[in-house]
Formats: sequence, C-alpha cells, structure tokens
Amino acid sequence: MNKLFVSLLLTMGVAGAATAAQPIQGDAAAGQAKTAICGACHNPDGNSLAPNFPKLAGQGPRYLEKQLHDIKSGKRVVLEMTGMLDGFNDQDLADIAAYFSSQKGSVGAADPQLVERGRGLFNGGDLEKGMPACIGCHSPNGSGIALAGFPHLSGQHSQYLAKQLTDFREGNRTNDGDAMTMRAIAAKLSNKDIEALSSYIQGLH
Ligand code: HEC
Ligand code: HEC
Repeated sequence: MNKLFVSLLLTMGVAGAATAAQPIQGDAAAGQAKTAICGACHNPDGNSLAPNFPKLAGQGPRYLEKQLHDIKSGKRVVLEMTGMLDGFNDQDLADIAAYFSSQKGSVGAADPQLVERGRGLFNGGDLEKGMPACIGCHSPNGSGIALAGFPHLSGQHSQYLAKQLTDFREGNRTNDGDAMTMRAIAAKLSNKDIEALSSYIQGLH
C-alpha cells in the first residue's frame, strides 16, 4: 500500500470515529427559523395536509437527519425538493431535524374494512412468506425506535406510506442501508398487503 492511501485510510478512520463519538446536537429553535420554505408542502409544524407529502412532526431526529442527508446527496431522490437543501450544512440539517421532531404529530383514520388485515401483518408478519412483523422495529403503536433510527410511522398519510413501500419493493427507494432491510421486507408484500398496512398505520396511535 502506498503512503498516501494509508494516510487517507487513517484520516477517514479518525474522522469516522469523531463523528460517531460526537453526533451533532440539533437546536429546535434554530431549526424552526430554517424551515420557512418547507412549510409550503409539509406545513409549518410538519403536519402536512396533502396525502403525498409526508408528515414530519414527531418523527425521530436521527431518522429525519439521515433522510435530509440522503435527500441532499441524491441517495434518496425527492424531485420536489431538488436543490432545496444545498445551502444547508450538517448543523442546519440537525437543527431542522430537531425542530420537526419536537412538534406533535397528528393522527388520521384507518379504513375499517382494511384494519383486520393491516393489523395482522403489522403485528404478526407473514410466517408463510417469511416476512417479519413490523412491530419488531416500528413498535406496536408505530412510534418506532428513535435512538436506532427506526422511523415513527403512526398517523402518517396512507398514500405516502403506500408509495414508500412500493418504492422499496420496486427498488426505487434504496437508502435503507447495506442490509436492504426494507427492500427485503417490501419484496414480500402484495399490492393488497400494502394497501391494508398503509391504511392501518394511518389510523394507528
Ligand atoms: C414542493 C414540496 C416540498 C417542499 C417545499 C419540501 N418537501 Fe420535503 N418532501 C416532499 C415530498 C413529495 C417528499 C416525499 C417524496 C417521496 O414520495 O419519497 C418529501 C420528503 C421529505 C422528508 C422525508 C420524510 C420521511 O418520512 O422519510 C423529509 C425529512 C423532508 N421532506 C424534509 C423537508 C424539509 C426540511 C424541507 C424544507 C427545507 C422540505 N422537505 C421541503 C416535498 C417537499
Ligand atoms: C428489521 C427492522 C425493520 C422491520 C422488521 C420493518 N422495518 Fe420499516 N424501516 C426500518 C428502517 C431502519 C427504516 C428506515 C430506512 C431508511 O433509513 O431510509 C424503515 C422505513 C420504513 C418506512 C418508510 C418511512 C418513511 O417515513 O418514509 C415504512 C413505510 C416502513 N418502514 C414500513 C414497514 C412495514 C409496513 C413493516 C412490516 C411489514 C416494516 N417497516 C418492517 C426497519 C424495519
């Protein structure tokens, strides 16, 4: 190995360790001031009204921060947000994540005809297909596990949820990490499963 390569590896290792040891602290008040442009689609408090724009209110800060980095870098493609995060540095993104996370998320309603199927899949998975239950990572009430970066799902718009599950299944959303956790799970879902799960989660709280 040449010297430059070794020193590059060392620098990367040290930088990586530093990032892991000291995650950036987000400041919600500072974040609010940076979200004026976001409110048009996500609503100023993050409880978006349009079913294709995700609610951000009450979402875990770690998950939000990761999505913001992924959207900014293009790892997750959100055409509606093209270029919008370019002017924000890592501290700005942490602040924005802290702000939306500090807001209270609203809840919707489930279609009574889909609840049983949705609840069954969410709580029990599908043994035959080898699909794990969603509650293992997203918790029984859908609140997720914030520290692990497992997103809060409950109350989210069913239309947005269905699009995400379909995007994971078709390989159009690929930012779920090297383990491809959500792509592997969504691959086992039929359109009917996705419809039922999305409706159930929209009314979950
Ligand atoms: C023109 C509308 C629009 C604007 C303005 C906008 N967004 Fe979005 N945003 C979207 C859409 C649409 C999606 C979901 C795309 C998809 O279906 O995957 C999204 C997704 C997100 C997500 C991922 C949510 C999740 O649950 O994974 C975050 C975080 C986000 N936006 C933050 C912001 C922030 C912060 C701003 C302001 C700087 C902003 N958005 C401005 C339309 C918008
Ligand atoms: C092993 C853990 C695990 C299991 C089990 C799991 N998920 Fe996930 N899920 C995740 C992680 C981690 C992410 C975030 C991926 C990323 O960083 O973009 C995620 C993301 C999602 C998203 C996108 C959220 C958003 O705001 O865009 C949806 C929707 C979702 N999961 C639904 C489900 C459903 C429905 C099930 C059960 C059929 C399920 N998940 C099972 C770990 C899991």
